[in-house]
Amino acid sequence: MTTATPSGDPLAADASALQQHFDDTIASDQRIEPRDWMPDGYRKTLIRQIAQHAHSEIIGMQPEGNWITRAPSLRRKSILLAKVQDEAGHGLYLYSAAETLGADRADLTDQLISGKQKYSSIFNYPSLTFADVGVIGWLVDGAAICNQVPLCRSSFGPYGRAMIRVCKEESFHQRQGYELLMSMMRGTQAQRDMVQEAVDRWWWPALMMFGPPDDRSPNTEQSMQWKIKRHTNDELRQRFVDMSVPQAKALGVTFPDPALVWNAERGHHDFDEPDWSEFMAVIGGNGACNVERVANRRAAHEEGEWVRAAAVAFANRQREEAQS
Ligand SMILES: [Fe+2]
Ligand SMILES: [Fe+2]
Repeated sequence: MTTATPSGDPLAADASALQQHFDDTIASDQRIEPRDWMPDGYRKTLIRQIAQHAHSEIIGMQPEGNWITRAPSLRRKSILLAKVQDEAGHGLYLYSAAETLGADRADLTDQLISGKQKYSSIFNYPSLTFADVGVIGWLVDGAAICNQVPLCRSSFGPYGRAMIRVCKEESFHQRQGYELLMSMMRGTQAQRDMVQEAVDRWWWPALMMFGPPDDRSPNTEQSMQWKIKRHTNDELRQRFVDMSVPQAKALGVTFPDPALVWNAERGHHDFDEPDWSEFMAVIGGNGACNVERVANRRAAHEEGEWVRAAAVAFANRQREEAQS
């Protein structure tokens, strides 16, 4: 709708001019900032994307947090503590980025603990042995890096900037996982078997982290036009497979996929499809740990009520003291 103003006031620019400015900003690879006009769909999609990412960071603390008390040495315990704490930090940056779009963090938390908003399907799998800590660092954080490095160029400024720091920390996570697995592979046969068994369990869920195949991912096209998604799910999955194969070889483990072979013609590895019915079941709430993960998050939220109340009371008192 066009409503030209006789005064020619630039502040009264009409809707199409705003849309044009937004489109030009995206086309020239500039960033959209919170103060800028943006289409409702862009705002809503980004809030959903960032919230889902934030929830994944926070819920993602649980599978590894499970091993903090049982880490086999003080060194491993302190590394794992630092890693899990980083994930909490990632969640907090991301909730803050969502708030710049007008989302309310308390509301996002409610949506998570009431099951209305999702988090990455990978965190609904159990961490059964200490080798899982290494495999999660190597493959799960590795897949996260593939997904997130392109997001450093997200068209939305606060998200892109948060991703730069997040990705640096994710690289550390991946290396710590790989280093842990290297140590285990230099250990006993039982330790090597434990690593291989963990790789066998996590490989397919890690491939599912990139989401459904492109022909079943209806929102991809719009998100790529908006430059809040830079590559398709299948492109990222391929990149992850190509990156992981030589790492597995150096480590001395195999992936549980007989179809995984180098295709010289394509210049990429061929590989089999994950079981997408399992993926749908897990995101539908029927994974091994969905109920437990959300229940833990809900309990932590309820147990933290007094901390939030105390922080508000303290802030109010300080305000009153400043005014008196
Ligand atoms: Fe993270
Ligand atoms: Fe991480």
